[in-house]
Amino acid sequence: MTNQDDLFHPVIELPEPTRRARYDRLVGLDDTKLRLRKEAALLADPRRLQVWAANHYGGDIAALTLFADRAPLFVFAGDVGSGKSALAESFGCDLADFLDLPVYLYRLKLATRGSGLVGEMTSLIGDAFAHMHTVGKRMSGSQGARAVQILVVDEADALVQSRGAQQMHHEDRAGVDAFLAGIDNLAGARLPVVVVLCTNRLGALDPAVMRRAAATFTLTRPDDEQRHAVLTQALDGLGIRPETVRKVVKLTGPAGDRPGCTFSDLTQRLVPSAVFRAFPDRPVTDEDLLALAEELEPAPVFTEER
Ligand SMILES: Nc1ncnc2c1ncn2[C@@H]1O[C@H](COP(=O)(O)OP(=O)(O)O)[C@@H](O)[C@H]1O
Ligand SMILES: [Mg+2]
Repeated sequence: MTNQDDLFHPVIELPEPTRRARYDRLVGLDDTKLRLRKEAALLADPRRLQVWAANHYGGDIAALTLFADRAPLFVFAGDVGSGKSALAESFGCDLADFLDLPVYLYRLKLATRGSGLVGEMTSLIGDAFAHMHTVGKRMSGSQGARAVQILVVDEADALVQSRGAQQMHHEDRAGVDAFLAGIDNLAGARLPVVVVLCTNRLGALDPAVMRRAAATFTLTRPDDEQRHAVLTQALDGLGIRPETVRKVVKLTGPAGDRPGCTFSDLTQRLVPSAVFRAFPDRPVTDEDLLALAEELEPAPVFTEER
């Protein structure tokens, strides 16, 4: 059995201020956040749905059975920089508040992959799920969940590529199968464990994995309003004129067959570049921003190879 430290990055207990702030800073995702909260709450603690039915209908209702066998898996899809990792690693703060329970964030280390040892991937996945199973059991009680575990499998493309995808090695297929077995095991045991799988390539995901997912959330590039909100937030305090912000919103939008900027193009490229231009001798000017926005090449759209 693999050591916990070899399977996961350090486990984080949520809520926690840094991640809470990161969650709050994700703009334009209100619907997604709300849906995610409810979906995750019911997967982690199905008893809550019975309580709801009892309160509002005086007992069980037919619709409850529809929720019974759902696998505790969410798929987050979208281009690089669309906020998948940021959301996956922070929504537990909101869930913790909503459920009034501690939430533990586990992030699978996929780094050992590629070392060439046949079967290594499979045993990594198998051990990770076995670990989550054990923890989940420990955290479930007769009165419902005592804590929720979120397992984030980020950059999961290689792991769960479809059977049909080219260059699929025998070893990789075994990884997909181990993943599916792990999910099914969790689903059967109804443990307070939620798995989030992030991928840049929804189209290449194994159909069997897709079918298991209780919900798929596709994160998109920001529209005008969302770019405006992100920029306003990121430029706060720099003294940039509102009309300059509006111009930058236009400059960073789609044009012709060029896509618009991603969230991270704005937060991790544009605004930091403006700061670097000004630092250390002067404040950031409106002209800095406009010039940089003009030059900025949006991150390319991830195209499917199939
Ligand atoms: N909805 C959003 N609102 C504000 N900033 C965002 C949003 N989505 C992404 N970002 C910014 O982009 C950065 C990169 O996002 P990330 O989650 O790493 O993208 P992905 O995992 O999809 O490649 C985040 O740290 C954040 O600064
Ligand atoms: Mg990411």
